[in-house]
Amino acid sequence: MRIGVLTGGGDCPGLNAVIRAVVRKGIGMQGHEFVGFRDGWRGPLDNLTMDLGIPEVRGILPRGGTILGSSRTNPFGVDGGVDRVVENLHALHVDALIAIGGEDTLGVATKLHERGVNVVGVPKTIDNDLNATDYTFGFDTAVNIAMEAIDRLHTTAESHHRALIVEVMGRHAGWIALHAGMAGGANVILLPEFPFSLQRVCAYVESRFQAHYAPIIVVAEGATPDGGENATIDKGLDAFGHVRLGGIGEWLAGEIEKATGKEARTTVLGHIQRGGTPTAFDRMLATRFGLHAIDGVHEGDWGKMVALRGTDIVRVPISEATAKLKTVDPKLYDEVGVFFG
Ligand code: F6P
Repeated sequence: MRIGVLTGGGDCPGLNAVIRAVVRKGIGMQGHEFVGFRDGWRGPLDNLTMDLGIPEVRGILPRGGTILGSSRTNPFGVDGGVDRVVENLHALHVDALIAIGGEDTLGVATKLHERGVNVVGVPKTIDNDLNATDYTFGFDTAVNIAMEAIDRLHTTAESHHRALIVEVMGRHAGWIALHAGMAGGANVILLPEFPFSLQRVCAYVESRFQAHYAPIIVVAEGATPDGGENATIDKGLDAFGHVRLGGIGEWLAGEIEKATGKEARTTVLGHIQRGGTPTAFDRMLATRFGLHAIDGVHEGDWGKMVALRGTDIVRVPISEATAKLKTVDPKLYDEVGVFFG
């Protein structure tokens, strides 16, 4: 078969490990050939391709980002876009497509599958919010980056007797904040799933100072105060209708200063969480996803996505992954409450 591969949406560490595994097994053991589509769905939409053989994937396992490039292009938002994708795949003699992406990229894959395109999905996102899989790759790396930042902030917070706030990504799911906050020993962790009381946060800050330590507050970019709204960088929407979240950390610092009289500063980790080399866990998961995805293609198991269940890689309908957001369970959030304040 001639197989197209694309990476869509926000990039994350581990994408190259998937591409390498797909190509190595697909060519080396199954005799397929590949075409790389550049920049997510923009590739098949505008016929942007690149060679994708063994030489192209040599040495890319530890590299962050994606050799294919990525974008948030949505062919369903472009006039005649879907027909163009289908025609271009046909003209390039592409028999099957491997789409590596999150909610949006896989949503497009599901709809294209319904239009008769032979597609297999691979779940990625630092946000870990895809429903059908226990973990997505990229998440562990993002958590480790955020944890290291929190470790560093503890020492400077204590030197200056300040409250330090760390704003992390994750969109409308609090997985990065929860894991990084717990691993980094934060004193307050605020998640989008559970609107917070500003008064209680300030009480935690005060009690931490009274115990002669400086508080570290980890706040997810999508977290909101009771009755409040998401803080956003701008009100514009991307091709999939998402606003750009950000600013809750800065807002919180101002409120904490006003209420407690203590100095507060905010660090926004931003895209640092998405860059650089993947952790061993993410390299391993991404590689296994790639190996199982090419098996799915080889067996003609269309419309499926590889997923992690426990320690097994299974195949599930792609639509299951995008049916709803996987958010943090209240029971899990309750567990960490013992460390607040
Ligand atoms: O979905 C991954 C993610 O990094 C989110 O955590 C974040 O809200 C968003 O992408 C940022 O998007 P962009 O890279 O377009 O600024």
